[in-house]
Amino acid sequence: MDYQSLIRDIPDFPKPGIIFKDITPLLANAEALDAVIKDMAAPFKDQKIDLVVGIESRGFIFGPGVARQLGCGFAPVRKPGKLPYHTHSLTYDLEYGTDTLEIHVDAVVKDHRVLIIDDLLATGGTAEAAGKLIAKIDGIVVGFGFVIELGFLNGREKLGNTQVESLINYT
Ligand code: PRP
Ligand code: MG
Repeated sequence: MDYQSLIRDIPDFPKPGIIFKDITPLLANAEALDAVIKDMAAPFKDQKIDLVVGIESRGFIFGPGVARQLGCGFAPVRKPGKLPYHTHSLTYDLEYGTDTLEIHVDAVVKDHRVLIIDDLLATGGTAEAAGKLIAKIDGIVVGFGFVIELGFLNGREKLGNTQVESLINYT
């Protein structure tokens, strides 16, 4: 499947100098949407995955579909103040300032095997923080799955030895 032809470059969004990878043409294509979910799940099919975690907000587009492919449930990792029940949180550094991710205290059963899904791996800061949050609550992060990887930013180096899969890599 030629996913790349269904990803649109938007120059200077959201800030000057940034070329945004717009996946909405891919999402709008029934065949591509079906294929992308199956292809994201495929590398993890033969592993025991207990839970898929998706990172707000664009990880929510793909996470539940991947969970259905793998026959497991889904839990959201959200930005601060969005989750209604008790949460665990993790604050991480950005280029300027910090950001925080939260998860419900009962989202992950101890030693359950978790696959983390997001749309994009850029610097890796977001995925790294989500991984640390899962580890902090005694889940086992068995892998990370992305649609797009900006390989030139070396984000996967932040994710250590954990399996990292992406469908399109801009090197
Ligand atoms: C984008 C993208 C990833 C993250 C990747 O999310 O969806 O979650 O950045 O960047 P990193 O690898 O450098 O951390 P963003 O924070 O823009 O929020 P959104 O998903 O809600 O649009
Ligand atoms: Mg995001």
